[in-house]
Amino acid sequence: MKSLVKKYGAPLYVYEARVIKDRYQKLAKNLNHPRLRIHYAVKANSNLEILRYLRKLGAGAETVSLGEVLISLKAGFKPKDIIYTCSNITKEELETLNKRKIRVNLDSLNQIKMWGELAPGTSISFRVNQGIGAGNHHHFITGGPESKFGIDVRQINKALALAKKYKLTVNGIQQHIGSGILNENKKIFIEAMMALLHTARRFPDLEFIDFGGGIGIPYRPNEKPLDLNRLGRSVVKILKEFEAVYGRKLNFVFEPGRYLIAEAGTLLVTVTDIKINPSKVFIGVNSGFNHLIRPAMYDSYHEIVNLSRQGGKKIKASIVGNICESADFFAKDRPIPLPKIGDALAILNAGAYGFSMSSNYNLRPRPAEVLIEANRARLIRRREKVETIIKN
Ligand code: LLP
Repeated sequence: MKSLVKKYGAPLYVYEARVIKDRYQKLAKNLNHPRLRIHYAVKANSNLEILRYLRKLGAGAETVSLGEVLISLKAGFKPKDIIYTCSNITKEELETLNKRKIRVNLDSLNQIKMWGELAPGTSISFRVNQGIGAGNHHHFITGGPESKFGIDVRQINKALALAKKYKLTVNGIQQHIGSGILNENKKIFIEAMMALLHTARRFPDLEFIDFGGGIGIPYRPNEKPLDLNRLGRSVVKILKEFEAVYGRKLNFVFEPGRYLIAEAGTLLVTVTDIKINPSKVFIGVNSGFNHLIRPAMYDSYHEIVNLSRQGGKKIKASIVGNICESADFFAKDRPIPLPKIGDALAILNAGAYGFSMSSNYNLRPRPAEVLIEANRARLIRRREKVETIIKN
């Protein structure tokens, strides 16, 4: 990893293909149902090469913007392999999705009306809010009474009436209750699945049911990964029982983002300054929340390793970036051996919602990205140049 900093410079995002492959195959093996498909949530990391890699592994794509649809098509996903989840989208966007034959999950009564006017007599699916949400930060909860997402389950009759009015066939229902689900939330995840399957019985023409994403990863040393084997067994049993009750075979979808890519990614940064104040130590690096906003935005924990030196007496230090805001930190009061200026630090588990949430705040360019495949590193995004940012 350290040699990559030498070759490509820092800050640098590095992804390991073998980890992506391992997670994809583990998930596919445990969610062992013949008609179940994993659609990768593109928002977690939308690098073209990462998408190509996941497509080759067998994944479909789950998208939330025209940009994500277009890059998925560019990565070789066929329209039938792409799912689109709406949130407050315009009629123009719906029109484009219809033209491109992308599978759309409508999110509100108003959207059903828009779609009905646009494409009467077609098949369409609904995102449902069952009143159940979960996640390891309040911002990650995307179901329940406080959530803006989905058609409220108490308004299903209205949704069905609108579908009837426009002769729409509802061929799918979807939900996504939240993100970062580990073992402690497994029960809620299963409960939400059962609730969606219960609602599914009110839809006679279903071809698929989509349970969203949400599988968490252990960011903190004391966190345990979700027991996928047990989860998988419960899921498969529930799905088989449901098919027997529904009386027809269906397709099932899961839309994980984080689980497939978070642990494959590392953000490499260089120490640029060390400030030893009487009451606090700050380790400054050549990156910031413009490259990885999760700590600033959600107080998220990312393990940080010094690649240039190991061991040494630990001190408590905050690892901070070069952005002019106090929220610009990667770690607060973290026990770490005092580094030296020029050391390379690795910020771990940064593959999901890292680069994809990055920005040019403070007019700073975004990092390059590298993919390691079969022990060979390959540049999959060039480092941004200040000139390119200011040109626009
Ligand atoms: N499907 C839908 C409709 C979603 O909204 C999301 C994530 C996913 C699937 C994938 O969820 P995952 O498997 O990655 O948990 N920025 C936050 C996470 C926000 C997730 C938004 N929706 C973070 O940095 O942790």
